[in-house]
Amino acid sequence: MSSDTRSVIIKGTGSYAPEKILSNDDLAKLVDTSDEWITARTGIRSRRIAADDEYASDLGSKAAARALEDAGITAEEVDIVIVATITPDMPFPSTACIIQAKLGVGNALCMDIEAACSGFLYIAEVASSLLKNGNYKHALIIGTEKLSSILDWEDRTTCVLFGDGAGAAILSLSDEPNTGLIDFKLGADGKNSELLHMPGGGSAVPASTNSLETRQHFLKMRGREVFKSAVRVMEQSAIEILDQNQLNANDIKCVIPHQANLRIIESLSNRLELPLDKFYLNLDKYGNTSAASIPIALDEAYRTGRLKSGDIILMVAFGAGLTWGASLLKWR
Ligand code: COA
Repeated sequence: MSSDTRSVIIKGTGSYAPEKILSNDDLAKLVDTSDEWITARTGIRSRRIAADDEYASDLGSKAAARALEDAGITAEEVDIVIVATITPDMPFPSTACIIQAKLGVGNALCMDIEAACSGFLYIAEVASSLLKNGNYKHALIIGTEKLSSILDWEDRTTCVLFGDGAGAAILSLSDEPNTGLIDFKLGADGKNSELLHMPGGGSAVPASTNSLETRQHFLKMRGREVFKSAVRVMEQSAIEILDQNQLNANDIKCVIPHQANLRIIESLSNRLELPLDKFYLNLDKYGNTSAASIPIALDEAYRTGRLKSGDIILMVAFGAGLTWGASLLKWR
């Protein structure tokens, strides 16, 4: 826990999901799969798909506008914009700069950070530290993904799992001690990066006829190994952050987990001895939206009255890298 007496609170949240719904039955027309298989193995029933001319920055801008409205601040008051995404509009400039322009944010500090599905917790810690240590008042943090743009629609082992969407939060300094984003426990292990990656499009495998023909520009995953690692590191980081703050599972009012797979979340619930009804779940509607998953779930949990003032909330994530993280949030 920080010794700084000031806190960083989540002053507002917002989320946005594209209109088009792709159901499991729709997917069964594209690849050899079924609603029964996808629901039983993952808990996912449908996902949202962005329009061709709707980019990660568009999804992110809509979520951010809702977060600004909820926080009661204007775009001009934002000092920092940080975006977490693995599907930026383009390699550069950053999606944060593109969103800055779309929203009319002033000359704020703008950057993207890439930590895949753990991205939102990573940007929350970076933004918190900047607010506490720098000369800033409000940070806009956004997890936004157009994963449909990097899915191999011929690969049934991956295309059924993911969806598009965005979630955002306004972080602001508060003089009240020990509230808001109380603590973080983030980590990574790059030795297992090939378990979940997209090989093409960077300096290692730039776009070429060969890279296109060999389908290098699509997400690739070894699902079973990812599953095992996810359960292990999410449990570890959750236990570590609870111990570090002398809390136990009973102190947690709500868990906002990364929404990848219901079976992963059920395992976590068993291992932490935290009943499943404490976990906010929406993966049936959206599938895995990577960096957008936690902020969308947080926003929905808040707007549906699941979060009460003073509640201690545990956010916990896992993603490509491999990366992981947990954070404790005392609701405003
Ligand atoms: N529809 C029908 N069958 C499918 C399928 C699909 N969409 N995808 C895979 N299968 C088949 C496989 O080909 C395999 O067939 P085989 O036994 O004839 O070889 C069988 O189902 C079992 O595959 P397996 O990969 O062992 O299944 P699983 O129980 O591990 O479930 C995942 C697969 C991907 C759902 C699961 O491993 C998973 O969720 N992993 C974590 C993924 C994740 O969350 N990634 C993001 C982390 S941020």
